[in-house]
Amino acid sequence: MEVNTNFEIRIRKSEVSRIDSLDFNNIPFGKVFSDHMFSADYYDGEWRDCEILPFSKISISPSMTALHYGQAIFEGMKAFKDMEGNPQLFRPEQNFTRFNNSAHRMAMPELPEEIFISAIKEIVSLDRDWIPSQPNCALYIRPFMFATDEFIGIKPSDNFKFMIFTCPVGIYYPKPVKILVSEQYVRAFPGGAGFAKAAGNYGATLLPIKEARTDGYDQILWMEGGKFKFIQESGTMNAFFMIDDVLITPELDGTILDGVTRNSVIQLMKDKGVTVEERPISIDEVVDAYHTRKLQDAFGTGTAVTIAHFESIGYKGEEIMLPHCHRFLSRNQVQ
Ligand SMILES: Cc1ncc(COP(=O)(O)O)c(C=O)c1O
Repeated sequence: MEVNTNFEIRIRKSEVSRIDSLDFNNIPFGKVFSDHMFSADYYDGEWRDCEILPFSKISISPSMTALHYGQAIFEGMKAFKDMEGNPQLFRPEQNFTRFNNSAHRMAMPELPEEIFISAIKEIVSLDRDWIPSQPNCALYIRPFMFATDEFIGIKPSDNFKFMIFTCPVGIYYPKPVKILVSEQYVRAFPGGAGFAKAAGNYGATLLPIKEARTDGYDQILWMEGGKFKFIQESGTMNAFFMIDDVLITPELDGTILDGVTRNSVIQLMKDKGVTVEERPISIDEVVDAYHTRKLQDAFGTGTAVTIAHFESIGYKGEEIMLPHCHRFLSRNQVQ
């Protein structure tokens, strides 16, 4: 069978833009969607039918396997406007690589780079007026893929849909976040799928986060599940700790996401001459550093949150309060 390499994108534009309904000075996170979406289908072993069309609801079967067995992955990235007002993507090739790593782990077909990158460029260019220019705002891009077999039974699907939609977003956390160290629930473990942006990884965190919010926290700091000793990550953020002028972040051991913002922060800090260590870091090391006044900063990094400073970390009934710490990395230094 001949392999399809013609990924020409059909474009069907929306007749009326909804952009006037958006207040650019008051953009909620993740609730308003731009005019268009992208769709491609995988069947008979090939990606086909690449199309940009007006953002709308889609029709699915109740027996669609993604709904039952969670064969679904996604990405999150942002487009900004440059000085001339042209759309700029932030390191899209890293999201592409991660998307296919997630696809591989979830037994899904990889996507050709040509579809992923050109679909994103095309849809962002078409909806460029939706890219906010206000500080801390951007156009969030959500590529995702899900299994579409209509079948009850556990096996990898033969059919998939890849879609992209975008939404203008404002700031995610308007103030530093209160973090709770998880001592009961586990997000990921060695040999699991923690490194993949698989939908189920997020669904399983919702109850712990709901409980933490009831207790006044914004997010959970996940620990490795054996002894609940070593730090993994927090929400949709990679975790960083500045201790005694050394920036420490958990290594990529397969349980955490290989964050694009994480990579950028590591590179920028190294370029500034800061010593950066990617290694196991225990919560005890952070607590000790706090008590000996060596803990200078703690923050999370991610596309949605950019840099989110931790205001406090709750652990075994104690609150490690960080506002007194010298803020090593200001929110605006890395974006
Ligand atoms: C679990 C998790 N960790 C870390 C991150 C940060 O990754 P990135 O900087 O690529 O957004 C995200 C967000 O994508 C995430 O979902």
